[in-house]
Amino acid sequence: MREDQNRSSMSGNVVIEPHRGKLGVLLPGMGAVATTFVAGTMLVRRGLAQPIGSLTQMGTIRLGKRTDDRVPQVRDFVPLAPLDDLVFGGWDVFPDGALEAARKAGVLEESHLAPIASELSEITPMPGAFYPEDVRRLNGTHVKRAASKAEMVEQIRDDIRAFRKKHSVDRLVAVWCGSTERYVIPGEVHESIARFERGLLDNDPSITSSALYAWACIKERVPFANGAPNLSVDFPAAWQLARDLIVPVAGKDFKTGQTLMKTILAPGFKARSLGLNGWFSTNILGNRDGEVLDDAENFKTKEASKLGVLEHLLDAKRYPALYGKMHHKVRIEYYPPRGDAKEGWDNIDLFGWLGYPMQIKIDFLCRDSILAAPLVLDLALLMDLGQRAGLGGIQEWLSFYFKSPMTRPGLYPENDLFIQSMKLKNTLRWMMGEDLITHLGRDYYD
Ligand SMILES: NC(=O)c1ccc[n+]([C@@H]2O[C@H](COP(=O)([O-])OP(=O)(O)OC[C@H]3O[C@@H](n4cnc5c(N)ncnc54)[C@H](O)[C@@H]3O)[C@@H](O)[C@H]2O)c1
Repeated sequence: MREDQNRSSMSGNVVIEPHRGKLGVLLPGMGAVATTFVAGTMLVRRGLAQPIGSLTQMGTIRLGKRTDDRVPQVRDFVPLAPLDDLVFGGWDVFPDGALEAARKAGVLEESHLAPIASELSEITPMPGAFYPEDVRRLNGTHVKRAASKAEMVEQIRDDIRAFRKKHSVDRLVAVWCGSTERYVIPGEVHESIARFERGLLDNDPSITSSALYAWACIKERVPFANGAPNLSVDFPAAWQLARDLIVPVAGKDFKTGQTLMKTILAPGFKARSLGLNGWFSTNILGNRDGEVLDDAENFKTKEASKLGVLEHLLDAKRYPALYGKMHHKVRIEYYPPRGDAKEGWDNIDLFGWLGYPMQIKIDFLCRDSILAAPLVLDLALLMDLGQRAGLGGIQEWLSFYFKSPMTRPGLYPENDLFIQSMKLKNTLRWMMGEDLITHLGRDYYD
């Protein structure tokens, strides 16, 4: 750890408040992803496993010139909260504690759960704020009752304050790991803080459960990252509130299996000016997420998030000859025997020189929650860092983690994984007063 981590670091114009005390990580939705993240972090801090897939724990960052040989670990470069200082909590609409929920999710083997069983079982969810019409496949029993959505927000705020006090945490962050909700088009109620607050009092049906958590978190100055494609925090009133109160917000939808592959491959095709006629993606999965997505209204939310990726990446308007006829289709099939061990197939119809057609087939036997858990960890640590660096509102530098990155209105999202990675690392360099890396490299030859 850097020696100066206990002092405020002053870099350029960015002052980063030091980490001190404990960081509470609140997880609305304690299912497969959330419990795989919590259990994994507990194993890592006991030295029983490696945090594979986490940029903050495994990644490095180059500083200065290539000849300088300065490539620290990310976690030694920026003053992140150490894993030992994380305290976990959350909400769910089922009362299962984290151990039971992890067992039901069936992601981690008993050999991984046994050493941390007692620590995990101490984490029990607070009752969820839940409106059944948002996720019709769930019959939540462990739920709050409130006369209005405004009152529901107040109850969540009370939970946050009680958690802060009980665990004596210095700061909190929240990462939504709850289910994908029905599709909601932003309307008038989402346009301003005053209208949204009126809508909360009036029980406006276009305000879903996840938006209540997001609103409560922002009001409590708790950074909020959204791992699902839900609207949650991606509308003008929430952006404004987050900016006013200097609270980082980010989303939407963790970028894991098939979409991760898309944002790795498509930038490569585009860089080489190879054309695409079609990209058909289908997958089977059998976890609770798959069951929820089996409902057409919930699938629609996920579909919009998955489809948007190629649209922005390939930019067919600027490349009509290469991508003007591109047909993109995405399917998800709920198939219980697979559990969390998803299988995703892609058929890519591409073409090269003189228009000659070619095909690529991908069969990705992945594990959904194993891919998502390290993203929860990175987001929790980086959102907290962002808040200590005084960043409020939409955190576009965290697009790296999302299928459908939030951006300012009028600004298209950057979906290319490699540009996203550069943006994230340059943001860290900027925070710490290091030179940004442009990859120009003329000075090596002058
Ligand atoms: N695993 C991945 O690779 C991946 C990738 C991208 C996005 N996601 C999204 O992450 C989320 C979590 O995925 P998962 O596999 O853990 O799903 P899961 O079904 O195992 O867990 C979701 C949990 O959220 C709870 N929940 C639903 N509504 C709630 C509410 N209003 N308040 C509190 N709890 C609520 C459910 O009871 C459930 O326990 C889903 O929205 C999923 O679409 C997952």
